[in-house]
Amino acid sequence: MTKTELKPILVFDSGIGGLTVLREARVLMPERHFIYVADDAGFPYGGWEEGALTERVIALFGQLLAEHDPEICIIACNTAFTLVGADLRAAYPQMTFVGTVPAIKPAAERTRSGLVSVLATPGTVKRAYTRDLIQSFASQCHVRLVGSENLARMAEAYIRGEALADEAVLAEIAPCFVEAEGKRTDIVVLACTHYPFMANVFRRLAPWPVDWLDPAEAIARRARSLVPLPNGFEPLNGEDPAIFTSANPDFATRRLMQGFGLRVMAAAVSADRRERI
Ligand code: DGL
Repeated sequence: MTKTELKPILVFDSGIGGLTVLREARVLMPERHFIYVADDAGFPYGGWEEGALTERVIALFGQLLAEHDPEICIIACNTAFTLVGADLRAAYPQMTFVGTVPAIKPAAERTRSGLVSVLATPGTVKRAYTRDLIQSFASQCHVRLVGSENLARMAEAYIRGEALADEAVLAEIAPCFVEAEGKRTDIVVLACTHYPFMANVFRRLAPWPVDWLDPAEAIARRARSLVPLPNGFEPLNGEDPAIFTSANPDFATRRLMQGFGLRVMAAAVSADRRERI
């Protein structure tokens, strides 16, 4: 099979957070083209009512799969996958979906103090999926769920080059730091793909050092395991397409995409899919 016959990998998020996964996937899958899809018309997903968000994402994928025929889809969004993952697989059984869920299991395996925090969107914190992960894999730990209203937006602003006040960031992460019976939180799970962009800021502002767990590499490894590397492949060069459901990302976003080797495609998703359902 030549490289031109290989289907692309679709990477999906509500915004630009999925780029933290894309950059790892590119390293492990150098023979593949990628299509990056940001449902920025629906961003942020964190505050959506569950039924409406499910309908929106399922409908959007009907269109994306028909238009782009990817090899597999990486749902690089905890907020979407913890809600819609099972429904997506049921609606499109011919497609393989690699999901992103809070890294509660690895955190429970690694913690020494037994105090783990999960920093996520309000949507992810509410999900039955997240509660089930805690019950199945971290029942011996004390898990603090921290749902941040503002951090995904702040991460978008930060990565586009806007200045953020330290106090504003600290207010969002401070609830992750728990002290009880002489022990302290030692792991914070970054359970929103936007947050790793701010990991350096978090490290600087943290009241004490913790391990900030970013699952991006593990997600990329999972995707790699599902897409065998063909013999005699050549690494690809050149830009991959990026689709924004608003069809109108601003200049800073376009420049950011360029930095990631992505070219924003014009109006790739029809107007009816851009409306909130
Ligand atoms: N990046 C998304 C996640 O991993 C969520 C951002 C949002 O839309 O609120 O959860």
